[in-house]
Amino acid sequence: MKRFATSLLAVAALAALTPLAAHAQAAGGKIKVGLMLPYTGTFAALGTAIENGFRMYVQEQGGKLGGREIEFVKVDDESDPAKATDNVNKLIKRDNVDVLVGTVHSGVAMAMAKVAKDTGTLLIVPNAGADAVTGPMCAPNIFRSSFSNWQPGFAMGEVVAQRGHKRVVTITWKYAAGDESVRGFREAFEKRGGQIVKELNLPFPNVEFQALLTEIAATKPDAVYTFFAGGGAVKFVKDYAAAGLKGRIPLYGAGFLTDGTLQAQGADAEGLMTTLHYADSLNTPRDNAFRLNYAKAFKLQPDVYAVQGYDAAQMLGIGLNAVKGDVSKKAEFAAALRKARIDSPRGPFTLSASHNPVQDIYLRQVVGKENRSVSVATKALADPGRGCRM
Ligand code: BEZ
Repeated sequence: MKRFATSLLAVAALAALTPLAAHAQAAGGKIKVGLMLPYTGTFAALGTAIENGFRMYVQEQGGKLGGREIEFVKVDDESDPAKATDNVNKLIKRDNVDVLVGTVHSGVAMAMAKVAKDTGTLLIVPNAGADAVTGPMCAPNIFRSSFSNWQPGFAMGEVVAQRGHKRVVTITWKYAAGDESVRGFREAFEKRGGQIVKELNLPFPNVEFQALLTEIAATKPDAVYTFFAGGGAVKFVKDYAAAGLKGRIPLYGAGFLTDGTLQAQGADAEGLMTTLHYADSLNTPRDNAFRLNYAKAFKLQPDVYAVQGYDAAQMLGIGLNAVKGDVSKKAEFAAALRKARIDSPRGPFTLSASHNPVQDIYLRQVVGKENRSVSVATKALADPGRGCRM
């Protein structure tokens, strides 16, 4: 309670320091949303799905949130951390956006969070799991509609241990998302007596897996844990099978390994088990309606990224409704989200004190073109929010 009151004071102080964006204050004026997402490179499809989901929710509300029309400005961040600060500054200073929505890549998201924190601009992160965003970099004006990298990794550490595997090799891209996913896995797996015998890495977005797959074959672990996503995940699953490892050494992953990728992975993905906060077969009225509307609108099946984009828009709507469209009322905006129960297609979730979803993590298995829910691996899993002081 004391921490919550302190947070609200911090937001009020921040709001007083932030110049009011005149364009957003004009009664009835549009709210400008800056979409900073990857539209090229290995995460391009993820960026498009997030935008689709976001726009679909706004459309369902008649094009308005909190009584204000929504206008979009877009930038392709190319999943390139070196360009991130310039890109986000352009959105804030040149385009005068009221709200930032982005992004997919953890390194880019950390640059966005720094600028958002320094300027007090509202930021909703619709994918990137960088633990720091809702850890040491947390702020009253920063929210996440997706997950922390720790969450699916931790849930899978428990599953792999429960399935009796003792010696595991991990393989991932060497950047925040891969490192933190493996760290989450390690925390749960070692607690239950497992051992990580080798951590293999390659630079993002490299997909030359051959030498590392040869090393896995030589190490002969009980199982492999991995974090890859987008185009890289497609190639990894296909190369794992082509190297003759599928069926010999069980492959587990954070669910990005098989989400939005099954069409391209084909039979090589069949049977893979992953952990994630969404699955294709939840069969709830909320998810069925979402999936039907998405398929009609975009002629595509939705994936976890579409859900996260949709929920980012829902979260913006909840905040804007509470302040009647006045984005300068940051304390009230934050207070509304902190007590909200977000009615997501994934199942309802709340936000932790550090503004990360507290959510069920599903154990899924690939059956045909679906990530089918096997069970809830971990109920209402909250990221520890280590280092967050609001
Ligand atoms: C990340 O960089 O945080 C990330 C990218 C793709 C999928 C999941 C996480």
